[in-house]
Amino acid sequence: MQINKLLFILISFSLFFSCEKEQITVEKPNIIPIPSVLNIEEGQFVLTTDTAISFDNGFKASAEFLKTYLSNSFQIKIKNEQSTNTISFKKDTLLSKAEGYKIKITPQSIIISAANDKGAFYAVQTLRQLLPEMIENGTFKAEKASISCLIIEDEPEYQYRGMHLDVSRHMYSVNFIKKYIDALALLKMNTFHWHLTDDQGWRVEIKRYPELNTIGSYRNETLIGHYNDTPHQFDGKKYGGFYTQKEIKDIVKYAQDRHITIIPEIEMPGHSQAVIAAYPKLGCTLNPVEVATKWGVFEEIYCTRESTFTFLENVLDEVLELFPSENIHIGGDEAPKTRWKTCSECQKRMKTEGLKNEQELQSYFIRRIEKYLNNKGRQIIGWDEILEGGLAPNATVMSWRGIEGAVTAAKEKHKVIMTPTSHSYFDYYQSDNENEPLAIGGFLPLEKVYHFNPMPEALNKEEQQYILGAQGNVWTEYMPTEDKVEYMVFPRLLAMSEVVWSKNENKNYSGFISRLESFNKRLEALDIKYASHLYEVEGELNSKNNKQSYALKTLTKNKTIRYTLDGSEPTLNSKKYIESIPVSESKTIKAAVFNTEKKLGQTFSETLNYHKAVGKKIIVNTTPHKAYSGSGKKGLINGVSGSNSRYGDKEWLGFWGDDLEIIIDLGKITEINSIETRFYNANGQWLYSPKEVFVDFSTDSNVKDKLRRVEVKNRDSLLSKFSVKFEGLSASKIILKIPSYGTIPEGKQGAGNKAWTFIDEIIVK
Ligand code: ACM
Ligand code: ZN
Repeated sequence: MQINKLLFILISFSLFFSCEKEQITVEKPNIIPIPSVLNIEEGQFVLTTDTAISFDNGFKASAEFLKTYLSNSFQIKIKNEQSTNTISFKKDTLLSKAEGYKIKITPQSIIISAANDKGAFYAVQTLRQLLPEMIENGTFKAEKASISCLIIEDEPEYQYRGMHLDVSRHMYSVNFIKKYIDALALLKMNTFHWHLTDDQGWRVEIKRYPELNTIGSYRNETLIGHYNDTPHQFDGKKYGGFYTQKEIKDIVKYAQDRHITIIPEIEMPGHSQAVIAAYPKLGCTLNPVEVATKWGVFEEIYCTRESTFTFLENVLDEVLELFPSENIHIGGDEAPKTRWKTCSECQKRMKTEGLKNEQELQSYFIRRIEKYLNNKGRQIIGWDEILEGGLAPNATVMSWRGIEGAVTAAKEKHKVIMTPTSHSYFDYYQSDNENEPLAIGGFLPLEKVYHFNPMPEALNKEEQQYILGAQGNVWTEYMPTEDKVEYMVFPRLLAMSEVVWSKNENKNYSGFISRLESFNKRLEALDIKYASHLYEVEGELNSKNNKQSYALKTLTKNKTIRYTLDGSEPTLNSKKYIESIPVSESKTIKAAVFNTEKKLGQTFSETLNYHKAVGKKIIVNTTPHKAYSGSGKKGLINGVSGSNSRYGDKEWLGFWGDDLEIIIDLGKITEINSIETRFYNANGQWLYSPKEVFVDFSTDSNVKDKLRRVEVKNRDSLLSKFSVKFEGLSASKIILKIPSYGTIPEGKQGAGNKAWTFIDEIIVK
């Protein structure tokens, strides 16, 4: 971004409260997503009740939107004549991208230029962010607001800028859906992917099949706590509902007015237990089933007999009436083939269609639906599993299990939307803090979302054109309330908006963080209950010349970290952190961020277990999976254990299917009395503890002790334990061989896939 020097001197947006003669100074425009070009100029434009709005043909909608927005605080008129103190919308067909715009603010006028109303609408969203946030909720009561003169030129990087919401696992009010859409519009996102059907509830009114709603929209009860808790417990309360066609039409119109396309998702062939509960004849077994009451992947699947396709076509006909979007999402993910394998109808279908396996049967299913929708002028989007068994000819792929699906699809000249779990799953934890509210698992901090590059490196220029953009996904198993959804989505959505809108060269995480600090006030004015991890402390053990020290850092500028080493709560009087804290024994470090007056965030607490391997050399035969690489291999001997309740934190390392060989080099012959570590055993998320560990030692002369097999204990609980004691043993190197659990057994979540191994601190005493 070209910001002229003036920006670096304090730029002031002076807001004169004529009634109270109070002046508020805002430091600089804090626009999210950051625009392509922003030049601050001299002077100010003063917005008053005498300001008028004028517009060229085609910009009525944006002009009205601005007028309505300002009417929270300023009753201003639309007047189609040129006068001073005007905000004018002007047509500029030369603007290169359809969604681009320019804003030129002089003391006399604000001129918004765009090629069409979409660009003008985004200009209005930028203009909002140049004005005091109190206008958002009408608490700005002054008669004037001054805006610094400037020029902004802006356009998006990606044409698809999406946000998803699952309303099957939990459902939210129509007002909330509109509030969500409003927030997307403010951030220049243009697509709302509405996940309307799943095993736990069907949420769209379908008139032709009323039992979808009377039965399929309600579950008898809901799992409480985490899926990994044993035994499973339920709340015993009926839960559900659906959006009526009238409500949906209203929401679609509301979104259109904000230049947001709603893409409905109707899941098939898997994730269809709620439908089969309503109409058992759609399943392979014809047996009655219940709408699912817990989370996960279920074996119920649409049978491929002819009547299923008639049903789906009739359902889709109603869906198409409600949603004018070119694209319809047909799901396609996580469809176990167990039922199909033993179903005579499905096996017959495979024979008559010449299909080699059940993957090809899934492909047949999706192709048939695609053909039906193509004939109605629509296109399909599917999760990346639709690649298996052959891609339907015109399908767009939503790549979620990583980016491999994206690369394959783009090379096959198919359009792609990027939503990899690693950077797009806003249902993952966003902080390591143990006080975080319950989430499914994983770890996706704000910074990681911010640094997401949707363009896979493996694609050449020609293939890159198939990457349409990216999207954040919000699966709501653990989000029973609207506040919880907001907590999980904000501020990660702000980071995603910059990923898809802003130019790479303008992006800068520390700049984003200071804009976010200010943007949070706007979120508060909008009553959005965002998560604030801006004032948290992060810690890291460093080793140099065989000496260890502990470093602390925090994100925002001009703050102080204060800490204690005696277990007490840090206060304004605690020691100020200036440089790494030397450590040579076990300690609890507590720290927090302060301004001059008070503590700002939560207290950070780390218990260092200063055992014999801390800071020593470690070799691991393979690297952890990049989604779970935590603090890296040195994190296995950094004196800090992983969370007892979450495997996504930086102290747990995740390996996908690898047999591990770990060598810890203690540097000299050392007496070894015990070795222990833990494995995370969340089978629902494909994490399986190894069954055994083989231990070996060597001395400097490389004479090996004999290999010992040690069984891993507590493998039926969430945390299993490897522990072994020795007497009279001295060695300089410890060798641990840890075979992976292997393949996930039939009947379990993820059956047939490789199991993950998650390993914690290796404690040597
Ligand atoms: C997905 O997360 N199952 C698309
Ligand atoms: Zn069948």
